[in-house]
Amino acid sequence: MSEKENTIRLASIPGDGIGTEVIRSALEYLSPKAASFDVNIDVEELDWGADKWLREGVGIPKGKLERLQKEKHAIFFGAVGDPRIPDMAHGREILLGLRKRLDLYANVRPIQILKPELSPLKNAQNIDMVIIRENTEGIYVGEGTHESEGTINERACDISVNTYMGVERIIRYAFELAKKRRGHVTLVDKNNAMRFGGSLWQRTFKEVAGDFANVETAHLYADVACMRLVDDPQRFDVIVTDNLFGDILSDIGASIMGSLGLAASANINPGKLSLFEPVHGSAPDIVGQGIANPLAAVMTGAMLFDELGYLELATSIRKDAMGAVRKGLVTPDLGGELKTEAVIEELVSHI
Ligand code: NAD
Ligand code: IPM
Ligand code: MN
Repeated sequence: MSEKENTIRLASIPGDGIGTEVIRSALEYLSPKAASFDVNIDVEELDWGADKWLREGVGIPKGKLERLQKEKHAIFFGAVGDPRIPDMAHGREILLGLRKRLDLYANVRPIQILKPELSPLKNAQNIDMVIIRENTEGIYVGEGTHESEGTINERACDISVNTYMGVERIIRYAFELAKKRRGHVTLVDKNNAMRFGGSLWQRTFKEVAGDFANVETAHLYADVACMRLVDDPQRFDVIVTDNLFGDILSDIGASIMGSLGLAASANINPGKLSLFEPVHGSAPDIVGQGIANPLAAVMTGAMLFDELGYLELATSIRKDAMGAVRKGLVTPDLGGELKTEAVIEELVSHI
């Protein structure tokens, strides 16, 4: 469904906690904003999340995903996570299930400074990078063993699976992106400790790099990469890494921007039904207070429109969000006094 049409058919899955707050609020701005660019957004809200899981024992209803693949252009997702389900069983089925079953192999997580004063870093000028996180393999595959539970011999193993196909395509995705940006890719791994997967990533990175003569490369171990994100973030353009390291690095990146409430992400299978979600979770500590920052969801909307080819709309959304941030018309996580709805009203006033 890559053909540009004037109606975008969205499945929205607000999920749990502040996921519901930020997704519904963001749409109150994104829909009229898109309309001002002659783009109609047709939203079908799905009730997948903790309540449904507890009520019906269902994460993704049978047959529903196949229908979405036929009918929708994109999925706009909030967050999953609920204190009543401490092992996140529903989240694994819903969010990790969607990533896996839709083969959304590229998790794209941009880190950009909107206003240097918001960053905890002293020198936060010119930070502009994208973390490309492998999104279908690694330790997230849910394979492993758990033996002799509750005894002194208990042994719990989570296996990190890395396939050549999976590693090659995500590294290639990162190089293609770098080509359109500043031409630099950093591979982040732990091949000093992770023998098998580490060597596959290293070898494949060199192989793919051979196809991109004009892209410079670097390698950092994940521990040092965490340090460099804090003391020398300007060195990064595109980072490519596995599922787990990508998860960790992206929260450091969010903090560098000033708040998790600003970090957007896209889960992409190029040309196929893809899923767009803020990086943050359901934030049980602030749920129901009306103070969740909606800007991560709004910027996620911009990524969605970009991916569907509505580039001017996406750029204009980013400009509106940037304006609110620069003027300090923001929620308390960014030092502001506004509630979620007031931030949205501010954005709507610029349409
Ligand atoms: P979290 O991202 O929900 O919250 C971390 C901190 O950031 C909290 O203090 C929270 O208040 C703050 N925060 C997050 N988003 C914010 C926003 N938009 N505005 C203002 N402040 C914001 O991480 P957590 O507390 O570790 O996890 C809570 C639940 O969410 C867990 O169940 C976790 O597994 C889940 N989770 C889900 C996703 C997802 O669905 N994509 C992502 C991360 C965590
Ligand atoms: C994220 C989240 C998820 C992840 C959790 C909820 C499983 O932290 O999207 O960053 O680890 O991928
Ligand atoms: Mn995360």
